[in-house]
Amino acid sequence: RSYRPVYLFCRFQHTTTQSLSKEPSTFPSNVLVETRTEIAKKLHELSGIDKHFIYESIDRPNKLDSGDLLLPVPRLKYKCNSYKELAKQWAAGLSQLPCCEKVVASGPFIQFFLNHLLLTTSSIPCILQQSDNYGRSDLLLGKRTLIEYSSPNIAKPFHAGHLRSTIIGGFLSNLHETLGSDVIRMNYLGDWGRQFGILAVGFEMFGDETKLEQDPIYHLFDVYVRINKEMLKEENSTLPSNSIKSKVRTYFKNMEEGDPSALQLWKRLRDLSIQKYAETYSKLNIKFDSYSGESSVPPDTVRQVLQRLGEKGLTYKDNGATAVDLSVYSKNLGQVIIQKSDDTSLYVTRDIGAAVSRYEKYHFDKMIYVISSQQDLYMSQLFKILELLGYEWAKDLAHVNFGMVKGMSTRKGNVVFLDTIINEATNRMLQVLQGNPQKCKQVSDPYDTAQKIAISAIMIQDMQSKRVNNYDFKWDRMLSFEGDTGPYLEYTHSRLYSIGEKCSDITMKDCKTADFTLLTEPLAINLVRLLVQYPDVLLKSLTTMEPSTVVSYLFRVAHQVSSCYNVLWVAGQEPRVAAARLALYCSAKQVLKNGMRLIGLTPVNRM
Ligand code: ARG
Repeated sequence: RSYRPVYLFCRFQHTTTQSLSKEPSTFPSNVLVETRTEIAKKLHELSGIDKHFIYESIDRPNKLDSGDLLLPVPRLKYKCNSYKELAKQWAAGLSQLPCCEKVVASGPFIQFFLNHLLLTTSSIPCILQQSDNYGRSDLLLGKRTLIEYSSPNIAKPFHAGHLRSTIIGGFLSNLHETLGSDVIRMNYLGDWGRQFGILAVGFEMFGDETKLEQDPIYHLFDVYVRINKEMLKEENSTLPSNSIKSKVRTYFKNMEEGDPSALQLWKRLRDLSIQKYAETYSKLNIKFDSYSGESSVPPDTVRQVLQRLGEKGLTYKDNGATAVDLSVYSKNLGQVIIQKSDDTSLYVTRDIGAAVSRYEKYHFDKMIYVISSQQDLYMSQLFKILELLGYEWAKDLAHVNFGMVKGMSTRKGNVVFLDTIINEATNRMLQVLQGNPQKCKQVSDPYDTAQKIAISAIMIQDMQSKRVNNYDFKWDRMLSFEGDTGPYLEYTHSRLYSIGEKCSDITMKDCKTADFTLLTEPLAINLVRLLVQYPDVLLKSLTTMEPSTVVSYLFRVAHQVSSCYNVLWVAGQEPRVAAARLALYCSAKQVLKNGMRLIGLTPVNRM
């Protein structure tokens, strides 16, 4: 029996520690799980410390040099004079574990090095057998996770922040699904509010039906720019006229009151935009179960929420508007206006209503908002208000935030359309591929391949460092085949694919039943040591909510593969050795493929 690692219990920003899951019914076992279990059992015998607690305290070191598993002794909070001494003493006591080749005390840490034979013979067939399912588990089985991401504003341009939300949210959705959760992927469009009034009034002035049909996103952006200019003119003019502003106010008020003609235009603009977005999303392997939006928040729910806030004595009047004072709970939360004097609803009010109606509809166990860190304060206020309203599920909300992208521009200029970015990256990548005409000939659809690699480039650049970091958008670096880039990962995957192709006389059955004791070289062993970590890496990224946890792992695998294939040949080797090595490469390809898909890339076979 395995002890379930408690580090799987997610710690999110802005929320209290909350478990997503109870004890899973089954949990696909692997060498690392088994070894952790053995260590926990033995150390429990030696120390009397709770097995589960030991299990969950066992970490994975960052470098293979430091072992396959690592126990930071102080974590066990065992009374002693010196953790160093204790580590030494326990390491000696654990040295006879059959699963470990060696157990080493290093300062207050104990390093565990797995038995090579056990590693190779048990894990390679297991990876090949599980193939696309390798890494999956049922840890979150029976749990429902609602993930809200992307959420662009229809009346304003899609910006880099939306791109990041899209990419990170896509990853988190795949991750939760891979770990067994039922996932609701939700896009919460900014399709309501005064902004929409501005756009609608702009459309009345500058709208063009043909252009709208052709490219709604671009055309609406054009309208958006022009109406904003007009409004600025109006603001700066000395004339008392305030016509656009008042039209906007009237328009939005009409929308809120359900005026059919106002809603008709609104619905058309919304539908066309969604259609266009969905096309672009699919290139990024992104999909949604629900295109909700600020507009779909039920007005009744909003009314009830406002009433409930009032009844709980949480609101006060401020110049005709209604506000909540959160500063009494925490100074930096300040005051939040939840209703304007003209009674039209606000972003935050809609968000409160949206959360309530989502819970009523989906009964989620966890709801994750993937939104830029610019809205950190806003999200804390939202979560606090929901908590004050007394919703028990408020503790199950999480904000997964991220930093800014700087310098994202195309040859056409500074404003970014996701499509333009993808097209430009694709064209640049196509040029690179065409630089090698001989290879390019072997690719059946060079444009399609270039697009897949280009998208990998964009996504990897976005996900390779911690979410909260800002990063500079750099065309040359992200499209390069050198260094840790999307193209490099794609290249490694296709290279592994071609090794298999060249050795078509070795069957998958040969691979699965190969004699793995023939894999003796440290390069091969170290590759296997990395491959067995994959399921563990996924669990880790569930606690960090970081795509970079998976991305940096994939680079480690790719680097190790690169060191292997110049030395450990398959072609021309004695058949038994060839089969064992090919099995190793197939496993590496499988892990890369699973990981790349998880983060949203499309692994290419030829390039
Ligand atoms: N549409 C918003 C924006 O572009 C993001 C929405 C985030 N989600 C939410 N529930 N507030 O800034």
